Amino acid sequence: MASTRTEPDRLSLARLPTPIERFDRIRDGWTVLVKRDDLTGSALSGNKARKLEYLLAEALARGARRVLTCGAVQSNHCRATAVAAARLGLGCLLFLRTREPPGADDAATGNLKLDRIVGAEVRFITPAQYGDRLALMTDAAGSDGYVIPEGGSNALGTWGYIRAVDEMAAQWDTPPSSIVCATGSGGTLAGLAIGLRRRGLDVPLHGVAVCDDAAYFQAVVERISAEATERWPDLPRVHADEVSVVEGYKGRGYGLGTPEEAADIESVARASGLILDPVYTGKAFRALLCEPERFGPRPLFIHTGGIFGLLA
Ligand SMILES: Cc1ncc(COP(=O)(O)O)c(C=O)c1O
Repeated sequence: MASTRTEPDRLSLARLPTPIERFDRIRDGWTVLVKRDDLTGSALSGNKARKLEYLLAEALARGARRVLTCGAVQSNHCRATAVAAARLGLGCLLFLRTREPPGADDAATGNLKLDRIVGAEVRFITPAQYGDRLALMTDAAGSDGYVIPEGGSNALGTWGYIRAVDEMAAQWDTPPSSIVCATGSGGTLAGLAIGLRRRGLDVPLHGVAVCDDAAYFQAVVERISAEATERWPDLPRVHADEVSVVEGYKGRGYGLGTPEEAADIESVARASGLILDPVYTGKAFRALLCEPERFGPRPLFIHTGGIFGLLA
C-alpha cells in the first residue's frame, strides 16, 4: 500500500551536506557556484549516493538480500550501487550495456574495475537486450532481490534531490540566478524541480541533456513527478512544460567524447582544479561556458560526480 507519510525512510550513505564552492578563475570576469556532489564520498560518490540512501533503505526494509540494477558498461550509478551493496552486506547483480563485452583477460578500468573489486556479479547485455532491462532484472530478482531502475531514477530515488534542495537552501544567503545539472536518466532534474517547487523557490532550473532530447526528459520528469505525488500526496506536481532542458551539448552522443569537450575539461581543471567527467558533467558544464548569459550572473552548477569515467 502507498505510504502517505511526508518523507520516506533514508539510510546515511552520503557525506552531507556537500559544500557549495565559488569558482572565479575559470573565465575572466565570470563566477560559477558549484554544489560539490562529486564529494558525497569516495568510491560511493556522485549524485547516486543521494538516491541510494532512499532506495536501499526500502530494499533493507523489504528484507532484500541482493540488489539488481542496470546501466552502461561504465555506469556511475551501477558502481555506486555495487559499493553501497558491499557496505550494507547485500549481494549485487549488474546488467551492463555494451556492444563489445570485455574478454576474460581484458583488464577492467574505471567504474567496471570498482564493480569487480567490490564483488558485484556482472552480466553484459547488448543494446537490444537493454530494451528489456526491467523484465531481465525482475526475472533475475527472485524472492530476495530488490530491483533499482536505470540511474536510480524513480519516485523514491528522486527524494535524494528533493532533499538536496533543502540542503542548498540552508547554505545560500541569496538564491543563485539559476541551477544547472546534467541530465541522463532524469531523476536528479526531477528531484530538483520538485524540491524547488516544494519550498516555493522560484530559481530557474536547467537540465543539460547528455543523451536523448528535451521532449524525452520533460516526459520523464512528468512521469516521476506523477508517481511521486501518487505515493506522497503532499509533494507538488511538476508538469512537462515547466521543465527546462538544454539541448545542443550531447556532442557525438551518450558516452562519446569530442576534442572540444576534452579541451574544456582540461582548461577548467587547469584554471580551477575542478575535475569534470567526460560523460555527464563535462558536457553539461559546456552549456555554461558556451552560453553564460543564458544562466545569469550567479549560476549554480550541480557537480554530480563521475570521475572514474575519466579513468576508463
Ligand atoms: C556523474 C553523473 N552526472 C549526472 C548524471 C545524470 O543524473 P540522472 O541520471 O539523475 O539524470 C549521472 C547518471 O546518470 C551521473 O553518473
